[in-house]
Amino acid sequence: MNEKENNKMDKIVSLCKRRGFVFQGSEIYGGLRGTWDLGPLGVALNNNLKREWWKMFVDGREDMYGLDASILMNGKVWDASGHTGAGFCDPLVEDTETGERYRADHLLKDAGHEADGLSLEEIDAIIVDNKIVSPNGNPLSPARQFNLMFESRIGATAGDEGRVYLRPETAQGIFVNFKNVVDTMSPKMPFGIAQIGKAFRNEIAPREFLFRVREFEQMEIEYFIKEAAWKDEFEKLRGDIKKWHTHLGLSEDNIREYEVPDNDLAHYSKRTIDFEYNYPGKGFDELCGFAYRTDHDLKNHMEASGVSMEYIEPDGSRYVPHVLEPSFGIGRAITAVLCEAYTEDEMNGDVRTYLKLPKHLAPNRVAVSPLLKNKPELVEKAREVFTMLKTEFGNVAWDDNGNVGKRYRRQDEIGTPHCIVIDFDTLGQEAPEHTDTVTVRDRDTGEQERVAISDLIQKLK
Ligand code: GAP
Repeated sequence: MNEKENNKMDKIVSLCKRRGFVFQGSEIYGGLRGTWDLGPLGVALNNNLKREWWKMFVDGREDMYGLDASILMNGKVWDASGHTGAGFCDPLVEDTETGERYRADHLLKDAGHEADGLSLEEIDAIIVDNKIVSPNGNPLSPARQFNLMFESRIGATAGDEGRVYLRPETAQGIFVNFKNVVDTMSPKMPFGIAQIGKAFRNEIAPREFLFRVREFEQMEIEYFIKEAAWKDEFEKLRGDIKKWHTHLGLSEDNIREYEVPDNDLAHYSKRTIDFEYNYPGKGFDELCGFAYRTDHDLKNHMEASGVSMEYIEPDGSRYVPHVLEPSFGIGRAITAVLCEAYTEDEMNGDVRTYLKLPKHLAPNRVAVSPLLKNKPELVEKAREVFTMLKTEFGNVAWDDNGNVGKRYRRQDEIGTPHCIVIDFDTLGQEAPEHTDTVTVRDRDTGEQERVAISDLIQKLK
């Protein structure tokens, strides 16, 4: 990957910090690895993205039901799903001198070896044969499996009863509520249950900004189908995922579909496609996953809990449905959106940085300012326009700091699609034909036009 691309990622990370999108978690105490906090603009972008997802995948469809399950679940859930076993582990090696821990498959890949789906013995053999050492140059310990779930105990209960985990995926909250949703909503097959929420993984090596963290948000769908229909339904959902990426403004050239080979499939999957994004400085890597989970989860929960997970058709036939699962990580979606939007161009002889965010994702839909903040008549009129737009759109910014040029640059940098300025023309003091009109500036072109205040909402929409 070339230096320019590396540089671009550094600039995006720096912009995120500087402009209040993303801060390091627990920063004043030196941080906590693998955690990030969303600042005022980050949470706005995050909320917009989640709202758009819900609109597209839940409210925009007749076959989807929403859910919000608890993060803490009975420990038996994770035994039944297979997460407490070897299926949800990463191979770990230690630097024998410093004790620092690394993901063995990452070290192998960094050294140019194929690392997916290898047994611990195979990993050890490659390390020994190729004299692979830790990044500090020290010998490595033999590989061992490291489970990624954060374990805790609930209340003062001792023994197995009190064992809980921070959920490593939102999916299981959906599976254990399958029967509740069927009993209360009487959905027709095929149908999906969608959920947005936090997930936690004790990643051995969190890295690359929001890409691999220990606490993150997922937007997941479990789509229940008849086994015989899985291939057709797989293709339909695959198309829906592509539409979602277009809606995020991600260009086709930057998205790739990766068919996960059999030896690297998750323990529950019969087929998985990873949708990959071309991250600057990193290249193509996973953005979201799309898996055919068969009836693995419902069947296991049925066996372990003794509760039937069968779906009964109107004709009385019954079966355990199979499942297709589009699973989106919000941090990776936000990273991709920011990378796609980050643009540098030249304007009025200067280099300008701006985020070309789609309007429905931009933290501020529009910014309003008076030409001069020390002229009460301009401020009063500008407040009127601001209140009108804020009532309509909600996410409208008031910006009267510095001169207008600086305000434009500041709003460009955070992706505000339009800036509105109230000037003396608006008050009818200079050109009477411009009375009650304002200038509307377009972020991408920098062009300005005069628009009547009465037409503003329609124009911005
Ligand atoms: N329920 C299926 C599941 O969780 P996954 O491929 O392990 O599948 C789905 O995760 C998505 O969640 C990934 O494509 C990614 O976007 C996000 N994700 C997973 N682990 C992550 C981590 N440590 N940090 C940030 N995002 C993560």
